[in-house]
Amino acid sequence: MSSTPFETVKQVINHRRAIFPPSYTSQAIPKELLTELLDCANAAPTHKLTQPWRFVVFREQGLVRLADQLAALYKTHTPAEQFLQKKLESTRDKVLRSGAVAAIVVSYSGAVPQWEELAATACAVQNLWLAASAAGIGGYWSSPGTIKHTGNFLGLAENEECLGFFYMGYHDEPSRAANRRPVAEKVRWEE
Ligand SMILES: Cc1cc2nc3c(=O)[nH]c(=O)nc-3n(C[C@H](O)[C@H](O)[C@H](O)COP(=O)(O)O)c2cc1C
Repeated sequence: MSSTPFETVKQVINHRRAIFPPSYTSQAIPKELLTELLDCANAAPTHKLTQPWRFVVFREQGLVRLADQLAALYKTHTPAEQFLQKKLESTRDKVLRSGAVAAIVVSYSGAVPQWEELAATACAVQNLWLAASAAGIGGYWSSPGTIKHTGNFLGLAENEECLGFFYMGYHDEPSRAANRRPVAEKVRWEE
């Protein structure tokens, strides 16, 4: 029997998990599929249709440039007493293990409050994440402190800000349930 749209959406939402680069396989993600996933991101809701989400997508040799850049930023901006060589290496490795990494960028239009542009961009990321998960691609949103220094590298305009990186890769992890406190703790009914 075929599933209803509601059952399908519930299944996709509940199946989505953060999947980290150590679990990624070396299988390449076709550019055409990435374009379809980004098209899903682009369907996110947006007040006044400002469509504030931007993505800079790194794949193939672009991943090497991103890995070098994130490692260099970590080195430059980490106080000597906190610096860990292991962290530097894992910063590089997790990029190089990925099939693609999308820098998540918000473009503030000035037409609506900034929080609305942030919220719309997060909606776009969730669409991307759900679509990727349904296509068998794992992902996670990474927001290291160094993102505030990525403007030049990403070629951001004055009104743009990087909100993190979305790592993606085919993976071999079994599915797991979400770790959340019950929704009843977060809802008050007024009846
Ligand atoms: C805005 C945002 C930023 C995040 N930044 C990080 C991060 O820097 N590092 C990390 O391990 N998880 C980060 N996460 C959380 C994970 O991607 C993931 O959602 C969390 O581990 C819960 O796992 P689940 O989504 O599989 O339930 C971030 C999530 C959001 C929404």
